Amino acid sequence: MSVLLQTSKCIFRKPFNNTFCKYVFLRKNSDVPKKFITFDEVVAQRRAEAMRSVVVQVNSDSSFNELYGYCSKYASIKDIHHYKNSGGEHFMVIEFASEDNLKDVLKSCSSHNKDHDVISVQSPFLWFRAAVGNKEKFAATGKKLAVKNGTEICNEDVLLEDILNCETVSDQIQLLYEKTTLNDLSIRLRYIVARQLEMIFNSLYTNVKIQPFGSSVNGFGRMGCDLDLVLMNSITEEMGAASRRLVFQEKRSARQLELAGALLELRVAGVARLTRILNARVPIVKYAHEYAGLHCDLCYNNSAAVHMSELLWQLGELCARARALAVLVRRWAAATGLTQPHPGRWLTNFPLTLMVLFFLQRTGLLPSLNRLVSEAGKEDIRIAEENVNCTFLRDLNKLPADSYEQNDDDLQTLLFKFFEFYSQFDFQEKAISINEGKPIRKPNSLPLYIVNPLEQSLNVSRNVSYEECERLRLEVRNAAWHLESCLDGKKSDDWGILGLIEKKSSRGLKKLLRVGNSHRLVSMKDLFSDNDNEPSVEGIRSKMQKFV
Ligand code: GTP
Ligand code: MG
Repeated sequence: MSVLLQTSKCIFRKPFNNTFCKYVFLRKNSDVPKKFITFDEVVAQRRAEAMRSVVVQVNSDSSFNELYGYCSKYASIKDIHHYKNSGGEHFMVIEFASEDNLKDVLKSCSSHNKDHDVISVQSPFLWFRAAVGNKEKFAATGKKLAVKNGTEICNEDVLLEDILNCETVSDQIQLLYEKTTLNDLSIRLRYIVARQLEMIFNSLYTNVKIQPFGSSVNGFGRMGCDLDLVLMNSITEEMGAASRRLVFQEKRSARQLELAGALLELRVAGVARLTRILNARVPIVKYAHEYAGLHCDLCYNNSAAVHMSELLWQLGELCARARALAVLVRRWAAATGLTQPHPGRWLTNFPLTLMVLFFLQRTGLLPSLNRLVSEAGKEDIRIAEENVNCTFLRDLNKLPADSYEQNDDDLQTLLFKFFEFYSQFDFQEKAISINEGKPIRKPNSLPLYIVNPLEQSLNVSRNVSYEECERLRLEVRNAAWHLESCLDGKKSDDWGILGLIEKKSSRGLKKLLRVGNSHRLVSMKDLFSDNDNEPSVEGIRSKMQKFV
């Protein structure tokens, strides 16, 4: 017997034995068809939320009551969150009921007006100073909202322990996804950081828009991932109309990011450790945002990158299993060293995600991009800079149900098939193309060829060396073997995905600790504790034997 409990994304089926997967995802053609919303709607909602939000630094989480009471004097509060940055400082994110509410609050703010080095600037990042003078205290009145907590990354040891305790590999993958995916507060903060820049730039320019893209918004982001931002000149069709005969005389420059870098450095509170990488193919300014605890990359006029994020987000919406699988594959690649924190001749998360999507197309779970393009209407036409055509169907409700989710494989099966698929993939002759949804002939002899979905003449893995491609082939085979060895049902301490996501270097040590073997760990002090002035090799060996 199994019991079905329906949630928004999947059905939880209580297992009647240990090997059966708990998670059976709803198919489009099941009784309750999913209603899709568009990426633009999600972005509009997040932007609106950011436009009525502030981030207030407080002394401690106990300042909450007073801050709540103080802010309620000016405006009505809709939602409130608390987090700590890496320096242990406390922040409250307050969302007001309307943008006008926020304007009233900002009008009531003060600044360091006695400090000659400061010129006042409006920003959603504030601090709550201690009451002075009459020591007016504000107590929260009426119905108070509960504070929601946290942007902390889940503790790694606790996470691994929980994963070890899962009943099936599918449960492990789902748990990893749920515990590490970007949470609501983390997404809110990212849009507020974008909004902060937008406020500064709009005090200098007309109609500048700062838009987050990449894993912060494409549905494949993990807690702590970087924040990719693009500065865009957002001229509406109406403003660009030829019927408007008076046109501004404007300054043309290919160096817009230079000023952006200076503004960030000199005017934006929270910005630290800024570096400019201006001679790259896509020039960027990198910085840390200390209040939000984020690493940010800002580029200029790159709307194709936003549409790429939109495309990835849409494919994740069509098949929720894609997101869980991609999060696992990204973790596995980081643990094996296939991806690295810095750029080089190896894979990065973006092409890796395309590999996951391509595999899911091959299993009938996702449509090809060409299919989404063929279903597009006039309202879907988007042409990015340098004439890059980013047209594809935006309203997924219009997509015929038989073009995706035609497969009930659980996550465990899909993961195994993913590694098996790439163990057998002909990297030498074939390129990966999510446009076609099938392998195509490689146009050149680069070791790994993954077609850029929006600019098909480009290879998003052109940087990957022959050695790294060979390592990829080896690691996918190792991973497939590892998962196959888990099928016998016996649980070891690297059972299921643990053998894939723990760094090899730390695995041995963690294994020892996890299975209650910490007493077997020996410190060097213990080895030399008998006052041996010059211990012999034999002496050390015999002492080590005691501990093994
Ligand atoms: P993480 O930051 O590693 O979590 O993943 P990410 O998807 O955000 O990747 P990254 O920050 O490297 O890049 C941000 C976005 O830029 C990606 O999601 C893509 O949309 C786009 N992008 C990255 N690499 C390439 C590339 O080689 N070519 C093109 N056209 N776009 C890329
Ligand atoms: Mg990124």
